[in-house]
Amino acid sequence: MKKISDIVNKRPIVGWVLFLFTVAAVYLLSLLGYSIAERKLEYKLTNQQKEPIARMETRSEEWKNNYPRQYERWQQTAEGDFASLEGGNVMIDMLERDPRLVVLWAGYGFSKDYNQGRGHFHTVDDIRNTLRTSPASTATCWTCKSPDVVRMMDKIGPEAFYSGKWVDFGSEMVNAIGCLDCHNPKTMELEVNRPALIEAFERQGIDVNKLPHQEKRTMVCAQCHVEYYFKGKGKYLTFPWDKGRDVEDVEEYYDEVGHVDWVHKISKAPMLKAQHPDYEIWEKGIHAQRGVSCADCHMPYRREGGVKFTDHHVQSPLANIANSCQVCHRESEETLRQNVFERQERVRELRLTSEDLLVKAHIEAGAAWEAGASDAEMKEVLQLIRHSQWRWDYVAASHGGSFHAPLESARILGSSIEKSQEARLLLSRILMKYNVKQPVPMPDISSKAKAQDYIGLDMKKIIEDKRKFLETLVPQWQREAEEKGLLDENSRKK
Ligand code: HEC
Ligand code: HEC
Ligand code: HEC
Ligand code: HEC
Repeated sequence: MKKISDIVNKRPIVGWVLFLFTVAAVYLLSLLGYSIAERKLEYKLTNQQKEPIARMETRSEEWKNNYPRQYERWQQTAEGDFASLEGGNVMIDMLERDPRLVVLWAGYGFSKDYNQGRGHFHTVDDIRNTLRTSPASTATCWTCKSPDVVRMMDKIGPEAFYSGKWVDFGSEMVNAIGCLDCHNPKTMELEVNRPALIEAFERQGIDVNKLPHQEKRTMVCAQCHVEYYFKGKGKYLTFPWDKGRDVEDVEEYYDEVGHVDWVHKISKAPMLKAQHPDYEIWEKGIHAQRGVSCADCHMPYRREGGVKFTDHHVQSPLANIANSCQVCHRESEETLRQNVFERQERVRELRLTSEDLLVKAHIEAGAAWEAGASDAEMKEVLQLIRHSQWRWDYVAASHGGSFHAPLESARILGSSIEKSQEARLLLSRILMKYNVKQPVPMPDISSKAKAQDYIGLDMKKIIEDKRKFLETLVPQWQREAEEKGLLDENSRKK
């Protein structure tokens, strides 16, 4: 092989070409290096605090000057302009959409009022407005609605907080879910601050705040988007995970501690209300198994100029498929959307079947009681109804669950259907024994009003009580909060 110097000696032009090429390469490399350094510096600068934030600063407005991009996007959670097949931020009256729910929850607050969830900006308004809360409610209800909970628990401790009344903290819980719910203001690290999640993992020997970074991008959400219950007289917020996080494990836990959310008004079954096991169902899906966190889809990265930051407009990823899904998937937006809808539609088909059977089971059980059935005869039936509805609700209340883990959702609904059919089989024998004509006639529950009338709710009075509360107590809470300096008046502006 010839030496380069020989070639250059023979043809000097080659030497010049090599020289110029080297100069160009060095120049380009230095540009790249500079750009990287600048980006890093820019990132550092944009995330550095110009003014320190107090450790328990609950007003997100006070974080704005330091982090304008995150603040601006966070504010967008006030929007109410996106509805997909099952999700979105538009307030939808779920009882009007499906009045069967009123019968399933007869005797429980959810039969009065149940809306599809909105963005985080509305949490304080929505908990005040719902017909499910009243001055008699427990303080524990505030726990997943406001960063003021973090401040209050720091001040008086979780036990004293949980055992209080809802109204005791009306003038303290005034800021919607915000920065302090997920961040330590000193370090800006993600921080889990709700005791229930910390304690549930502690019982399994895990320090949730020491988990790897990628897992914390899920854990900040799992503070609230989970199944929970109020334990004992002190209403201590507890996650029922000690036997595991499968639907059966949680059911077994509740059965063992004898937890009953309410006794069903028609069937008298000792019922469980599933909250929103979003984290637990997500865990069973392929994305969780591949390490994709809640924030990856619901808070994807966003660019403005050269700055890359986390999109704090937490919302349905279908409103933002390009950033949420297409960073990993090459399919078109339309294909990805259809992938989601197809899974949701199939799970819904099973969910509606399950719902129909449960309505029948409650009403047939009611007929059996009327005909004179005994406690002993009904015991097994009621347990089957409890378990069937628990499983139905676990899926129905898991927002996004039919996409997060479609197979697990379908599996759970399959077992719900099996249990309500089993209950109806037993009921059919009891009804026969007491000479009740079958099929038992079903009431007209074609609208929310008709269904609420059927289960004997005095909606006029309930709505009137709420109106009074909103017109008298709430303005007083707002005034007191402003006097205490807890509320930035800008925070209520959308
Ligand atoms: C792979 C992406 C992905 C991951 C990871 C993911 N989600 Fe979702 N999530 C979705 C999609 C898609 C929907 C359906 C949105 C719709 O129907 O408009 C959804 C729906 C939801 C909804 C209902 C939203 C609405 O608009 O009604 C909530 C709440 C939710 N997810 C919370 C979570 C939580 C909490 C986690 C983590 C434990 C998580 N998600 C993980 C993609 C994801
Ligand atoms: C402090 C409790 C809390 C935390 C922490 C929390 N959420 Fe929520 N989230 C809620 C509540 C409560 C609602 C319902 C608000 C309403 O309807 O007023 C909600 C609503 C939502 C919605 C529906 C909004 C829409 O526009 O469709 C999505 C999606 C969601 N949360 C995802 C997440 C994700 C992802 C995380 C973590 C990055 C998270 N949440 C952290 C309590 C919380
Ligand atoms: C529901 C939880 C949640 C809330 C509420 C929240 N953040 Fe974040 N924030 C996150 C997550 C998740 C990340 C990504 C962290 C990571 O992976 O490093 C993040 C990242 C950040 C970062 C680092 C830079 C970036 O954009 O990635 C800053 C700064 C920040 N948030 C500021 C804020 C401010 C200011 C608020 C209130 C207006 C706020 N956050 C509210 C969850 C939240
Ligand atoms: C951080 C990367 C990442 C993001 C973001 C992401 N996915 Fe995925 N997705 C995956 C991986 C990994 C798999 C598993 C496929 C594999 O391992 O071959 C998967 C699987 C899927 C599947 C097939 C699941 C099944 O039921 O078999 C669908 C559908 C899907 N994703 C849709 C979406 C949609 C819609 C979004 C946005 C809301 C999204 N993904 C966001 C990485 C991601």
